[in-house]
Amino acid sequence: MKTLTILFAAAMLSTATQAAPFAKGDPGIGKTLHDKACTSCHAGMFGGDGSRIYTRADRKTRTAQQLAARIAGCNANTGAGWFPEDEAHVAAWLNQQYYKFK
Ligand code: HEC
Repeated sequence: MKTLTILFAAAMLSTATQAAPFAKGDPGIGKTLHDKACTSCHAGMFGGDGSRIYTRADRKTRTAQQLAARIAGCNANTGAGWFPEDEAHVAAWLNQQYYKFK
């Protein structure tokens, strides 16, 4: 069930935004959502504000699709309770700030 949700969210994000990934997301909203729900574990693992998880050389996320899937996965795992559009906002923020997928 969880896997299905992730696949569904990833598919929605990727089909909606093929020209520019996450063009429908608002990075400003995404940053607020992200900073509220997503820094505790990452900071515990990597120190500072945890953003090194996104910038480390061996980061796991290599494509916009993987980014969408990872956000959906962490959303589900942490029970942040985001809607797909919230995930799109956060994807837009993380992509603008760190991943820069085209
Ligand atoms: C319960 C702890 C926890 C919370 C809270 C959490 N994450 Fe994660 N996150 C992880 C772990 C563990 C990894 C995997 C690290 C690895 O594989 O090296 C990860 C990895 C990631 C990655 C991939 C980083 C890379 O290597 O490119 C992204 C993107 C991400 N998380 C987004 C989020 C978002 C968005 C939220 C807020 C909903 C969030 N995380 C909240 C534990 C958490």
